[in-house]
Amino acid sequence: MEIINQMKLEFLSIPANVAFARVAVAAFASQLEFTLNDLEEIKVAVSEAVSNAIIHGYANSPDGTVRIVATLGKNSLEVRVEDDGKGIEDIKKALQPAYSSDPERTGLGFVFMQSFMESLRVDSAPGEGTRVSMVKTVNPSLSSTSYTQLEH
Ligand SMILES: Nc1ncnc2c1ncn2[C@@H]1O[C@H](COP(=O)(O)OP(=O)(O)OP(=O)(O)O)[C@@H](O)[C@H]1O
Ligand SMILES: [Mg+2]
Repeated sequence: MEIINQMKLEFLSIPANVAFARVAVAAFASQLEFTLNDLEEIKVAVSEAVSNAIIHGYANSPDGTVRIVATLGKNSLEVRVEDDGKGIEDIKKALQPAYSSDPERTGLGFVFMQSFMESLRVDSAPGEGTRVSMVKTVNPSLSSTSYTQLEH
């Protein structure tokens, strides 16, 4: 992917930053011709990844660091969300719909990330943190306008 623009964010693992991160990434992504619906989907995916970093990676402790790298290509956005938290022991299991290590949660975060973004990649190891990479492409059919002026 040819890089057109890139931004990096780094913030503490504080729940208030979930809203900050989702708005920041969506505002950055709006440089491409994403639809409003696309931008909403990007917001949900970023929220889920950042929430996971805070809740699971850092077990809700506010002194962890979450990093986001958002990269724009000509037609696509890549978002990476990274933490240096506890990591995931069994990624395959974590990705299963409705699986959660916390009985109070629904286990749908990765399902949302998968369904709202075109690709999802998870790299993690116990004690080594987690990196979630997601890509969304602008629908080419939506990025052009054409019309025919009929005589009357
Ligand atoms: N950044 C992370 N660090 C450590 N473990 C993680 C991380 N992200 C996800 N996990 C693990 O993967 C599981 C599945 O994540 P997912 O977001 O799908 O569900 P959840 O967070 O448990 O529930 P929900 O997102 O619906 O509130 C989590 O329960 C957790 O065990
Ligand atoms: Mg989650």
